[in-house]
Amino acid sequence: MKQVNRTQNEQNQVHSAIAFIRKQYECIESEEVPQELLDNKYYKEYEPLDKLELLTDQHIKYCTKRLLNIGYSILYLDVGQPWCIYWPLNALSILQEDVSKYEHKILQYLEKCKIGGFGGGPYQYEHLAPTYSSLLSLFIIASPASLGMIDRKGLEKFFWSVQDPNEKGSYLMHVNGEADIRAVYIVVIMVVILKLDPKLLDGCAEYIASCQTYEGGIGAVRYSEAHGGYAFCGYAALVCMGKAHYIDQEKLLNWLVNRQMEKEGGFNGRTNKVVDACYSFWQGAIFNLLQLSGYLNEQLMNVYELKTYIHMCQNPTGGIFDKPSKSPDTYHTCYGLSGYSLTDNNFQNPIYNVPNKCIDFVQKFFQ
Ligand code: FPP
Ligand code: ZN
Repeated sequence: MKQVNRTQNEQNQVHSAIAFIRKQYECIESEEVPQELLDNKYYKEYEPLDKLELLTDQHIKYCTKRLLNIGYSILYLDVGQPWCIYWPLNALSILQEDVSKYEHKILQYLEKCKIGGFGGGPYQYEHLAPTYSSLLSLFIIASPASLGMIDRKGLEKFFWSVQDPNEKGSYLMHVNGEADIRAVYIVVIMVVILKLDPKLLDGCAEYIASCQTYEGGIGAVRYSEAHGGYAFCGYAALVCMGKAHYIDQEKLLNWLVNRQMEKEGGFNGRTNKVVDACYSFWQGAIFNLLQLSGYLNEQLMNVYELKTYIHMCQNPTGGIFDKPSKSPDTYHTCYGLSGYSLTDNNFQNPIYNVPNKCIDFVQKFFQ
């Protein structure tokens, strides 16, 4: 970011010009750049953007500050306090920081939110979203104490209490709350890894399959618009149960590849909407899941363009934003880095979005 000294408008012009030039070459992902392209004045202009790097140290500083100031950073997210632990914690672990030093403080805090599932803060009702972010935070800490804190019987009871009375295989986000595929995803992945009652999975795959839309993505509920967040949840739950084939994966892939925008390089969440760095994970992870399920055996996203977009969404002093002109936050930092990491190596688990080494530890602990 620092090297580029042009207005947003100029930057956009250069970006679209180079995207057009690149299209003329088949070797987008190749190491070798043709001489003709090297000589092109737009390419020379674009070069500094190409060389942008992940601002690792700055992101570590940004996330550490927010993780340690739990009280301050959650003032505007009163009902989602465990998210304010998970987002910076997950980002820090992706950046290879040793997060064990935060164990005591995090466990102490989450203990106050625990019922069987977790509430969004102390003295709040159980809710699936903070239950998910609390459990993932405990997985990332990956110690006997963090996993020992999980009340499996209490969780099972909570999950039964949020079964959708109107729809087999669907769940509500909280008692008497809204039903959507996030809830199904959370219940499924936690039942599988914590070895809870497998009857909780009955009908889930069929329900998810019924939410695949004519476009090929998955909607929040049946007959709703396909969206990256829900497509991730639905497909990740299916892959987790070994039932990826319940949906039309060819149609899903077709919808997915069309979510990466040619000009910006990032993903949008749904047809005709604008790109946002958080979809680097919600959409990007589906490519990894398609490989995990065995449906795909090659990378079909343009990794180079996605990384360039994420590079451009970095705040010079740390943190990632949705798009240039917005402010950074820990949500976009977490999901920007998660998507980035998933294009790079095998560090992050695409179903749970915590490091694979933590998933191995959790699986052994509950075997
Ligand atoms: C924006 O919708 C919505 C998001 C950026 C979040 C999407 C993510 C999920 C639904 C998955 C959440 C998963 C769990 C497990 C809690 P919008 O309509 O404001 O934005 P758009 O214009 O990009 O569609
Ligand atoms: Zn976003």
